[in-house]
Amino acid sequence: MSKVVVFGGSGFLGSHVADELTGRGYEVIIFDMVESSYLQKGQKMIVGNILDREQVKNAINGVDFVYHFAAIADIQEAKENPVETASFNVMGTMYILDACREFKVKRFIYSSTIYVYSDHGSFYRSSKQSCELFIENYNKEYHLDFTILRYGSLYGPRANNFNFIRNSIRQALIEKKIERKGDGNEVRDYINALDAATASADVLDNLYKNKYVMITGPQTIKVREILEMIKEMLDHKISIDYQDGELMGHYEITPYSFKPKIAVKLVPRNYHDLGQGILDCIYDIYSELVKEGYKGNLPENEVDIHD
Ligand SMILES: NC(=O)c1ccc[n+]([C@@H]2O[C@H](COP(=O)([O-])OP(=O)(O)OC[C@H]3O[C@@H](n4cnc5c(N)ncnc54)[C@H](O)[C@@H]3O)[C@@H](O)[C@H]2O)c1
Repeated sequence: MSKVVVFGGSGFLGSHVADELTGRGYEVIIFDMVESSYLQKGQKMIVGNILDREQVKNAINGVDFVYHFAAIADIQEAKENPVETASFNVMGTMYILDACREFKVKRFIYSSTIYVYSDHGSFYRSSKQSCELFIENYNKEYHLDFTILRYGSLYGPRANNFNFIRNSIRQALIEKKIERKGDGNEVRDYINALDAATASADVLDNLYKNKYVMITGPQTIKVREILEMIKEMLDHKISIDYQDGELMGHYEITPYSFKPKIAVKLVPRNYHDLGQGILDCIYDIYSELVKEGYKGNLPENEVDIHD
Protein backbone atom coordinates (compact mmCIF):
# COMPACT_ATOMS: atom_id res chain seq x y z
CA MET A 1 0.00 0.00 0.00
CA SER A 2 1.49 3.38 -1.00
CA LYS A 3 2.03 5.91 1.77
CA VAL A 4 0.95 9.53 1.37
CA VAL A 5 1.40 12.51 3.65
CA VAL A 6 -1.08 15.36 3.26
CA PHE A 7 0.24 18.67 4.61
CA GLY A 8 -2.68 20.92 5.54
CA GLY A 9 -4.90 17.81 5.67
CA SER A 10 -7.09 19.21 8.48
CA GLY A 11 -8.31 22.07 6.25
CA PHE A 12 -11.17 22.42 3.79
CA LEU A 13 -9.60 21.01 0.63
CA GLY A 14 -6.84 18.91 2.23
CA SER A 15 -9.30 16.95 4.40
CA HIS A 16 -11.40 15.99 1.37
CA VAL A 17 -8.30 14.91 -0.56
CA ALA A 18 -7.10 12.89 2.45
CA ASP A 19 -10.48 11.11 2.58
CA GLU A 20 -10.46 10.43 -1.16
CA LEU A 21 -6.97 8.91 -0.90
CA THR A 22 -7.97 6.78 2.09
CA GLY A 23 -11.01 5.59 0.12
CA ARG A 24 -8.68 4.53 -2.70
CA GLY A 25 -6.57 2.42 -0.34
CA TYR A 26 -3.61 4.72 0.30
CA GLU A 27 -2.06 4.84 3.76
CA VAL A 28 -2.69 8.47 4.71
CA ILE A 29 -0.80 10.62 7.20
CA ILE A 30 -2.20 14.09 7.90
CA PHE A 31 0.24 16.79 8.97
CA ASP A 32 -1.33 20.03 10.17
CA MET A 33 -1.00 22.70 12.85
CA VAL A 34 -4.43 21.72 14.13
CA GLU A 35 -5.88 18.31 14.90
CA SER A 36 -8.32 17.32 12.14
CA SER A 37 -12.03 17.30 13.03
CA TYR A 38 -12.56 14.88 10.15
CA LEU A 39 -9.97 12.18 10.89
CA GLN A 40 -11.07 8.87 9.32
CA LYS A 41 -10.36 5.36 10.47
CA GLY A 42 -6.87 4.40 9.28
CA GLN A 43 -5.60 7.98 8.94
CA LYS A 44 -2.65 8.99 11.12
CA MET A 45 -2.46 12.54 12.49
CA ILE A 46 0.73 14.52 13.07
CA VAL A 47 0.19 17.91 14.69
CA GLY A 48 3.10 20.08 13.58
CA ASN A 49 4.25 23.20 11.80
CA ILE A 50 5.71 23.13 8.28
CA LEU A 51 8.24 25.73 9.46
CA ASP A 52 9.72 23.09 11.79
CA ARG A 53 12.19 21.42 9.45
CA GLU A 54 12.78 18.36 11.66
CA GLN A 55 9.05 17.68 12.00
CA VAL A 56 8.65 17.99 8.23
CA LYS A 57 11.55 15.59 7.58
CA ASN A 58 10.21 13.03 10.04
CA ALA A 59 6.78 13.16 8.40
CA ILE A 60 8.20 12.69 4.89
CA ASN A 61 10.81 10.01 5.62
CA GLY A 62 9.42 6.78 4.12
CA VAL A 63 6.40 8.09 2.23
CA ASP A 64 5.77 7.65 -1.51
CA PHE A 65 3.76 10.78 -2.29
CA VAL A 66 3.45 14.22 -0.70
CA TYR A 67 0.41 16.48 -1.09
CA HIS A 68 0.88 20.05 0.12
CA PHE A 69 -2.14 22.19 1.08
CA ALA A 70 -0.77 23.95 4.19
CA ALA A 71 -0.74 27.71 3.60
CA ILE A 72 -2.25 31.07 4.34
CA ALA A 73 -5.07 30.48 1.86
CA ASP A 74 -7.16 33.59 2.46
CA ILE A 75 -6.26 36.31 -0.07
CA GLN A 76 -7.25 39.07 2.38
CA GLU A 77 -5.14 37.61 5.22
CA ALA A 78 -2.19 37.32 2.84
CA LYS A 79 -2.68 40.91 1.70
CA GLU A 80 -2.48 42.12 5.30
CA ASN A 81 0.45 39.85 6.26
CA PRO A 82 3.03 39.71 3.46
CA VAL A 83 5.93 38.55 5.64
CA GLU A 84 3.94 35.72 7.24
CA THR A 85 2.66 34.78 3.78
CA ALA A 86 6.19 34.48 2.45
CA SER A 87 7.23 32.58 5.54
CA PHE A 88 4.41 29.99 5.65
CA ASN A 89 3.65 29.72 1.96
CA VAL A 90 7.13 29.96 0.50
CA MET A 91 9.60 28.88 3.22
CA GLY A 92 7.23 26.18 4.48
CA THR A 93 7.02 24.83 0.95
CA MET A 94 10.82 24.93 0.65
CA TYR A 95 11.26 22.74 3.73
CA ILE A 96 8.76 20.24 2.33
CA LEU A 97 10.36 20.29 -1.12
CA ASP A 98 13.82 19.77 0.30
CA ALA A 99 12.72 16.84 2.44
CA CYS A 100 11.03 15.34 -0.65
CA ARG A 101 14.38 15.57 -2.42
CA GLU A 102 16.31 14.12 0.53
CA PHE A 103 13.99 11.14 0.98
CA LYS A 104 13.46 10.57 -2.76
CA VAL A 105 9.70 10.95 -2.71
CA LYS A 106 8.04 9.67 -5.92
CA ARG A 107 5.99 12.85 -6.47
CA PHE A 108 5.28 16.22 -4.82
CA ILE A 109 1.74 17.45 -5.47
CA TYR A 110 1.24 21.14 -4.87
CA SER A 111 -1.96 23.13 -4.38
CA SER A 112 -1.57 26.27 -6.46
CA THR A 113 -4.29 28.55 -7.76
CA ILE A 114 -5.62 29.97 -11.02
CA TYR A 115 -4.53 33.34 -9.58
CA VAL A 116 -1.03 32.52 -10.87
CA TYR A 117 -2.39 33.61 -14.25
CA SER A 118 -3.60 36.88 -12.86
CA ASP A 119 -2.35 40.27 -11.80
CA HIS A 120 -4.84 40.05 -8.92
CA GLY A 121 -4.44 38.09 -5.71
CA SER A 122 -1.68 40.24 -4.18
CA PHE A 123 0.91 38.48 -1.97
CA TYR A 124 -1.11 35.26 -2.03
CA ARG A 125 -0.51 35.07 -5.77
CA SER A 126 3.17 36.05 -5.35
CA SER A 127 3.66 33.21 -2.92
CA LYS A 128 2.03 30.66 -5.24
CA GLN A 129 3.98 31.88 -8.29
CA SER A 130 7.24 31.69 -6.32
CA CYS A 131 6.50 28.17 -5.19
CA GLU A 132 5.71 27.05 -8.73
CA LEU A 133 9.12 28.37 -9.85
CA PHE A 134 10.95 26.61 -7.01
CA ILE A 135 9.11 23.36 -7.78
CA GLU A 136 10.13 23.60 -11.45
CA ASN A 137 13.75 24.08 -10.44
CA TYR A 138 13.71 21.21 -7.93
CA ASN A 139 12.64 19.10 -10.88
CA LYS A 140 15.41 20.49 -13.11
CA GLU A 141 18.18 20.31 -10.52
CA TYR A 142 17.21 17.23 -8.49
CA HIS A 143 14.69 15.39 -10.72
CA LEU A 144 11.99 15.66 -8.08
CA ASP A 145 8.77 14.79 -9.92
CA PHE A 146 5.80 17.06 -9.28
CA THR A 147 2.23 17.86 -10.22
CA ILE A 148 1.05 21.42 -9.83
CA LEU A 149 -2.70 21.71 -9.26
CA ARG A 150 -4.18 25.12 -10.02
CA TYR A 151 -7.54 25.24 -8.29
CA GLY A 152 -10.35 27.61 -9.18
CA SER A 153 -13.00 28.74 -6.68
CA LEU A 154 -14.18 26.01 -4.34
CA TYR A 155 -17.33 25.52 -2.31
CA GLY A 156 -18.89 22.64 -0.40
CA PRO A 157 -18.90 20.84 2.93
CA ARG A 158 -16.24 21.81 5.51
CA ALA A 159 -15.67 25.19 3.79
CA ASN A 160 -13.54 27.57 5.85
CA ASN A 161 -14.63 30.92 7.27
CA PHE A 162 -13.30 32.90 4.30
CA ASN A 163 -15.25 30.93 1.71
CA PHE A 164 -17.58 33.16 -0.31
CA ILE A 165 -20.51 30.74 -0.77
CA ARG A 166 -20.38 29.59 2.86
CA ASN A 167 -20.32 33.16 4.14
CA SER A 168 -23.11 34.27 1.82
CA ILE A 169 -25.37 31.44 3.04
CA ARG A 170 -24.55 32.12 6.70
CA GLN A 171 -25.29 35.83 6.29
CA ALA A 172 -28.51 35.05 4.40
CA LEU A 173 -29.73 32.76 7.18
CA ILE A 174 -28.72 35.00 10.08
CA GLU A 175 -29.34 38.50 8.69
CA LYS A 176 -31.81 37.76 5.84
CA LYS A 177 -29.51 39.60 3.45
CA ILE A 178 -26.31 39.11 1.51
CA GLU A 179 -23.88 42.00 1.11
CA ARG A 180 -21.52 41.78 -1.83
CA LYS A 181 -18.76 44.18 -2.89
CA GLY A 182 -18.97 44.83 -6.64
CA ASP A 183 -21.90 44.52 -9.01
CA GLY A 184 -22.10 40.73 -9.06
CA ASN A 185 -21.10 40.49 -12.71
CA GLU A 186 -17.79 38.85 -11.81
CA VAL A 187 -17.58 35.34 -13.23
CA ARG A 188 -16.36 32.19 -11.51
CA ASP A 189 -16.27 28.49 -12.29
CA TYR A 190 -17.01 27.04 -8.90
CA ILE A 191 -16.13 23.43 -8.19
CA ASN A 192 -17.44 21.35 -5.33
CA ALA A 193 -14.57 20.41 -2.99
CA LEU A 194 -15.63 16.74 -3.28
CA ASP A 195 -15.15 16.87 -7.07
CA ALA A 196 -11.88 18.74 -6.64
CA ALA A 197 -10.73 15.97 -4.28
CA THR A 198 -11.58 13.28 -6.85
CA ALA A 199 -9.57 15.13 -9.50
CA SER A 200 -6.71 15.71 -7.04
CA ALA A 201 -6.41 11.98 -6.38
CA ASP A 202 -6.72 11.13 -10.10
CA VAL A 203 -3.50 13.03 -10.80
CA LEU A 204 -1.43 10.31 -9.13
CA ASP A 205 -1.68 8.57 -12.50
CA ASN A 206 1.68 8.76 -14.32
CA LEU A 207 -0.06 10.77 -17.02
CA TYR A 208 0.12 13.80 -14.73
CA LYS A 209 3.78 13.49 -13.72
CA ASN A 210 5.53 16.87 -14.11
CA LYS A 211 2.33 18.44 -15.39
CA TYR A 212 0.29 21.55 -14.53
CA VAL A 213 -3.36 20.75 -14.01
CA MET A 214 -6.20 23.23 -13.71
CA ILE A 215 -9.02 22.02 -11.45
CA THR A 216 -12.11 24.15 -11.88
CA GLY A 217 -15.84 23.62 -12.27
CA PRO A 218 -17.48 22.59 -15.53
CA GLN A 219 -19.47 25.79 -16.01
CA THR A 220 -18.80 29.50 -15.76
CA ILE A 221 -21.32 31.45 -13.71
CA LYS A 222 -21.76 35.04 -12.58
CA VAL A 223 -21.58 35.71 -8.84
CA ARG A 224 -24.97 37.44 -9.23
CA GLU A 225 -26.50 34.16 -10.47
CA ILE A 226 -25.10 32.22 -7.53
CA LEU A 227 -26.60 34.74 -5.11
CA GLU A 228 -29.94 34.62 -6.95
CA MET A 229 -29.86 30.81 -6.61
CA ILE A 230 -29.38 31.11 -2.85
CA LYS A 231 -32.19 33.66 -2.69
CA GLU A 232 -34.56 31.41 -4.65
CA MET A 233 -33.68 28.40 -2.48
CA LEU A 234 -34.56 30.49 0.58
CA ASP A 235 -37.96 31.37 -0.91
CA HIS A 236 -36.91 34.92 -1.85
CA LYS A 237 -36.97 35.89 1.83
CA ILE A 238 -33.60 37.62 1.69
CA SER A 239 -32.26 40.73 -0.02
CA ILE A 240 -29.02 41.06 -1.97
CA ASP A 241 -27.13 44.28 -1.48
CA TYR A 242 -24.40 45.06 -4.05
CA GLN A 243 -22.03 47.62 -2.58
CA ASP A 244 -19.43 49.95 -4.03
CA GLY A 245 -15.87 49.01 -3.38
CA GLU A 246 -13.10 46.88 -4.75
CA LEU A 247 -13.23 43.11 -4.72
CA MET A 248 -10.45 42.82 -2.12
CA GLY A 249 -7.85 41.61 -4.61
CA HIS A 250 -10.18 39.23 -6.45
CA TYR A 251 -10.52 39.20 -10.23
CA GLU A 252 -13.67 40.15 -12.18
CA ILE A 253 -14.10 38.36 -15.49
CA THR A 254 -10.96 36.32 -15.94
CA PRO A 255 -7.83 35.64 -13.96
CA TYR A 256 -5.76 35.46 -17.15
CA SER A 257 -3.23 38.18 -17.70
CA PHE A 258 0.12 36.76 -16.54
CA LYS A 259 1.10 33.57 -18.34
CA PRO A 260 3.08 30.92 -16.46
CA LYS A 261 3.38 27.36 -17.83
CA ILE A 262 0.13 26.33 -19.48
CA ALA A 263 -2.04 23.76 -17.65
CA VAL A 264 -4.39 21.02 -18.81
CA LYS A 265 -7.88 21.36 -17.40
CA LEU A 266 -9.18 18.39 -15.43
CA VAL A 267 -12.94 18.19 -14.86
CA PRO A 268 -14.16 14.96 -13.21
CA ARG A 269 -16.46 12.97 -15.53
CA ASN A 270 -19.11 12.87 -12.81
CA TYR A 271 -19.54 16.04 -10.83
CA HIS A 272 -21.92 17.65 -8.35
CA ASP A 273 -24.47 19.99 -9.93
CA LEU A 274 -23.85 23.52 -8.62
CA GLY A 275 -27.48 24.09 -7.59
CA GLN A 276 -27.68 20.78 -5.73
CA GLY A 277 -24.29 21.49 -4.16
CA ILE A 278 -25.41 24.90 -2.91
CA LEU A 279 -28.62 23.41 -1.53
CA ASP A 280 -26.52 20.85 0.38
CA CYS A 281 -24.44 23.74 1.75
CA ILE A 282 -27.62 25.49 2.93
CA TYR A 283 -28.67 22.34 4.82
CA ASP A 284 -25.21 21.89 6.33
CA ILE A 285 -24.85 25.52 7.37
CA TYR A 286 -28.38 25.60 8.77
CA SER A 287 -27.58 22.52 10.92
CA GLU A 288 -24.35 24.17 12.05
CA LEU A 289 -26.22 27.36 13.00
CA VAL A 290 -28.88 25.40 14.89
CA LYS A 291 -26.10 23.83 16.96
CA GLU A 292 -24.86 27.39 17.65
CA GLY A 293 -28.33 28.35 18.96
CA TYR A 294 -29.91 29.77 15.77
CA LYS A 295 -33.70 29.86 16.02
CA GLY A 296 -34.72 30.64 12.41
CA ASN A 297 -36.33 28.21 9.99
CA LEU A 298 -35.65 27.23 6.43
CA PRO A 299 -38.52 27.64 3.95
CA GLU A 300 -41.22 25.07 4.82
CA ASN A 301 -40.63 22.64 1.98
CA GLU A 302 -36.98 22.38 2.89
CA VAL A 303 -37.02 21.65 6.63
CA ASP A 304 -35.93 18.04 6.16
CA ILE A 305 -32.45 18.63 7.54
CA HIS A 306 -29.83 15.95 7.25
CA ASP A 307 -26.63 15.77 9.32
N1 LIG B 1 -10.20 27.08 -1.04
C1 LIG B 1 -9.98 27.52 -2.25
O1 LIG B 1 -10.91 28.06 -2.92
C2 LIG B 1 -8.62 27.35 -2.90
C3 LIG B 1 -8.46 27.72 -4.24
C4 LIG B 1 -7.19 27.61 -4.81
C5 LIG B 1 -6.13 27.10 -4.09
N2 LIG B 1 -6.31 26.74 -2.78
C6 LIG B 1 -5.13 26.25 -2.05
O2 LIG B 1 -5.42 25.00 -1.44
C7 LIG B 1 -4.76 24.92 -0.17
C8 LIG B 1 -5.78 24.60 0.91
O3 LIG B 1 -6.76 25.63 0.95
P1 LIG B 1 -8.01 25.53 1.93
O4 LIG B 1 -9.07 26.38 1.36
O5 LIG B 1 -8.28 24.11 2.26
O6 LIG B 1 -7.41 26.28 3.21
P2 LIG B 1 -7.58 25.94 4.76
O7 LIG B 1 -7.17 27.16 5.50
O8 LIG B 1 -8.94 25.38 5.03
O9 LIG B 1 -6.53 24.79 4.98
C9 LIG B 1 -5.15 25.03 5.17
C10 LIG B 1 -4.67 24.10 6.26
O10 LIG B 1 -3.26 24.29 6.40
C11 LIG B 1 -2.95 24.32 7.78
N3 LIG B 1 -1.74 25.11 7.96
C12 LIG B 1 -1.57 26.43 7.69
N4 LIG B 1 -0.33 26.81 8.01
C13 LIG B 1 0.31 25.71 8.48
C14 LIG B 1 1.63 25.47 8.98
N5 LIG B 1 2.52 26.46 9.07
N6 LIG B 1 1.95 24.22 9.38
C15 LIG B 1 1.02 23.22 9.31
N7 LIG B 1 -0.23 23.39 8.87
C16 LIG B 1 -0.58 24.62 8.45
C17 LIG B 1 -4.14 24.95 8.46
O11 LIG B 1 -4.22 24.62 9.83
C18 LIG B 1 -5.30 24.39 7.63
O12 LIG B 1 -5.81 23.21 8.21
C19 LIG B 1 -4.04 26.25 0.03
O13 LIG B 1 -2.70 26.13 -0.32
C20 LIG B 1 -4.76 27.19 -0.91
O14 LIG B 1 -3.93 28.22 -1.35
C21 LIG B 1 -7.53 26.84 -2.18
